[in-house]
Amino acid sequence: MSKPLIIAIDGPAASGKSTLARRLARALDYLYFDTGVLYRAVTWAALQRGLSPADEAAMTRLAETLDMDVRPPSQDDGRSNDVWVDGQDVTWAVRSPEVDAWVSVVAAHPGVRRALVDVQRRIGQAGRVVMVGRDIGTVILPDADLKIYLDASAEERARRRYLEAKARGQDADYDEILAALRERDRLDASRAVAPLRPAADAVVLQTDDLDADQVFAKVMALIQARNSAPLRRLP
Ligand code: DC
Repeated sequence: MSKPLIIAIDGPAASGKSTLARRLARALDYLYFDTGVLYRAVTWAALQRGLSPADEAAMTRLAETLDMDVRPPSQDDGRSNDVWVDGQDVTWAVRSPEVDAWVSVVAAHPGVRRALVDVQRRIGQAGRVVMVGRDIGTVILPDADLKIYLDASAEERARRRYLEAKARGQDADYDEILAALRERDRLDASRAVAPLRPAADAVVLQTDDLDADQVFAKVMALIQARNSAPLRRLP
């Protein structure tokens, strides 16, 4: 019998984290939890209320008090979870370009991050979970059994986002997507608290030349190797 695993997946925007995590969770029958939706929900609510995303005190209060919930999917429209805020289903609203543009600013506020730690730890520490974010391996679940850091060049990530948008029939401009990704990378990696970086014990996968199937196969092999490893001897 394999032990319940906690799997942490971090990496920059559009590096393929959620695609990988969804597949792992399905294959292992684990919970998939994308922690970015919490920061997105706070950002969406701030914009709705006309609050400034740059106002740390206001964003912290909002994160501490907001009525938000992440639940199993209620509709078969491509969602992995439902995201509810103030009694409204905002699953797709939190993916809007407006939220994209502001979420890194909100996520950089130390008070906002502090307010969202406990809920993430509670879900993660229950085990049998694939948790996705920027600081899961470094801050939220430093004892995770397996930490993956997915990376790819900004150009490759922009190309993937561009092709996804085109496939959905949306207008997309590659240069705009690339510029927006670079700006989010800069904000996520340069913030003072819990910046984006691989944990010391993370397996870093550079995915420029790997497709989703190859990334999935590599990570499944790592999980199998961990589960069949002999018990560590006590010193
Ligand atoms: O993964 P995403 O695009 O939904 O993330 C949205 C933003 O939230 C992104 O700017 C990084 C931030 N984030 C974070 O700082 N820590 C996490 N654990 C998850 C997301």
